[in-house]
Amino acid sequence: MSKSTPGNKDYSKYFDFSNAKVLHEDEHGKHIRVNGREIHIVSQPSYREEKRRGKEDVQVLYDNGIPEEMKHLGQGKHYHITTYGCQMNEHDTEVMRGMFEAMGYTSTEDRDEADVILLNTCAIRENAEDKVFGELGHLKHLKLEKPSLILGVCGCMSQEESVVSRIMQKHSFVDLIFGTHNIHRLPQLLKDAYFGKEMVVEVWSKEGDIIENLPKKREGLRAWVNIMYGCDKFCTYCIVPYTRGKERSRRPQDVLAEIRDLARQGFKEITLLGQNVNAYGKDFTDLTYSFGDLMDDIRKIDVPRIRFTTSHPRDFDDQLVEVLAKRGNLVEHIHLPVQSGSSEVLKKMSRKYSREHYLELVGKIKQAIPDVVLTSDIIVGFPGETDEQFEDTLSLVREVRYDSAYTFIYSPRAGTPAAEMEDNVSMEVKKVRLARLNELLNEIGRERNEELRGQVVEVLVEGVSKNNAEMLSGRTRTNKLIHFKGHASLSGDFVHVRVTEPQTWVLKGELVQEPERANPAV
Ligand code: SAH
Ligand code: SF4
Ligand code: F3S
Repeated sequence: MSKSTPGNKDYSKYFDFSNAKVLHEDEHGKHIRVNGREIHIVSQPSYREEKRRGKEDVQVLYDNGIPEEMKHLGQGKHYHITTYGCQMNEHDTEVMRGMFEAMGYTSTEDRDEADVILLNTCAIRENAEDKVFGELGHLKHLKLEKPSLILGVCGCMSQEESVVSRIMQKHSFVDLIFGTHNIHRLPQLLKDAYFGKEMVVEVWSKEGDIIENLPKKREGLRAWVNIMYGCDKFCTYCIVPYTRGKERSRRPQDVLAEIRDLARQGFKEITLLGQNVNAYGKDFTDLTYSFGDLMDDIRKIDVPRIRFTTSHPRDFDDQLVEVLAKRGNLVEHIHLPVQSGSSEVLKKMSRKYSREHYLELVGKIKQAIPDVVLTSDIIVGFPGETDEQFEDTLSLVREVRYDSAYTFIYSPRAGTPAAEMEDNVSMEVKKVRLARLNELLNEIGRERNEELRGQVVEVLVEGVSKNNAEMLSGRTRTNKLIHFKGHASLSGDFVHVRVTEPQTWVLKGELVQEPERANPAV
């Protein structure tokens, strides 16, 4: 039996700070020199601290405009952000874009033109991290050509001790590292990076407060709205509770006000974000208000489509099923990650539900919403997963009949319990399992789409199809991509389309009627 290796390659050697010279230390942090590079560590991530769940109340801070003296910091300058990972990160990028533009910066897609480049990173699997380190290699050349360029690393990887140590030692051309709890500090951090000569490291391990009223730059027809931050589930394979801190819900009035405002601005679809949205409200000490209550209130707001991600099977209660069954703007698509079909593996993953509980929940949902589309996340090759346990996953997939699922080979993450578990399953076996699972999912996905043949579906038109100027692309209420012939002027409208050619990944259809401009989701 081989023991699985910790997630980050050469993890141990990046902790060796014996070659770091402390220059001085004061109430603003520590100034050190590593391999000739001066670094100002305001605060550094710590796995130990990130594991802690403090009892102190979460503060909600409302007054967060850009300080007057920073409103012109970016005049004549360009910024570029590359975003990795989930919608949470995409949305954090929108907040940072809002802040950049409030400081007078202009966005650019061209990295050569940029004065500031940020990598908003993801730590969920090792290959996500490898991509970022590869990118840093490319950016080193840009930085050498243009020393005034500010290069920053933020997002979930910055919350990892090992990553920050590795950057300090091996990528000393980086100017700025900050974490997920202090993106609102971007203006001050940029100023420090401009005016100091040192690399600035400010990563808070303590769970963040909730910061309201930050500027956000949204584009298109769809908008994301955070309803809560963090995760307390600590599934044994997962890094997110460490990188995103403890669960904390935004106040209902703040969420509802933001959604009303987006409705006024004309957004057609809103996705509520949280790692575990059905834990919404559980942290309120002064009121009883659940995710079901929130959905019931949002249902009354005039936005055509409301989605949410991600829901956790454990906390999916009957009230929520009941509210979702009222439909209206609440679409009939639920992303309900199962991770494994084996109760034994689920136990080792600490998912806190069994196969039977999950299937019972799916039964309830299907009874209440017969045309529901269910999608999932599934991990294969969790440490020690046996052939039988993997077969349990296949049989669960057959029973639920997901329309699609994201599938992953387990990736050990340093600092998580599963990274310490014995693993006797070879990578070869894991790859074969992944291929078999994907094959089954594709087969079922195709069958599910086939059931739509001839049906008329409501489509939100996103625009002209990438490959064919005569074709439009859009999404059904269940988030399926559909292509059909139509005029570009329909972009942003709701239309009805008959499904004529269902395929595995995409539907093809024909327009059946003129667009309806009013909310059709009644
Ligand atoms: N909060 C969400 C998941 C967020 S992470 C939930 O609980 O459903 C997205 C997905 O990445 C997870 O659902 C899981 O399937 C996968 N994932 C997380 N950690 C992983 C790891 N260490 N290796 C492989 N996949 C992982
Ligand atoms: Fe990770 Fe589990 Fe939290 Fe999802 S619920 S973010 S998988 S710890
Ligand atoms: Fe990745 Fe962080 Fe999201 S680890 S998946 S960006 S919460």
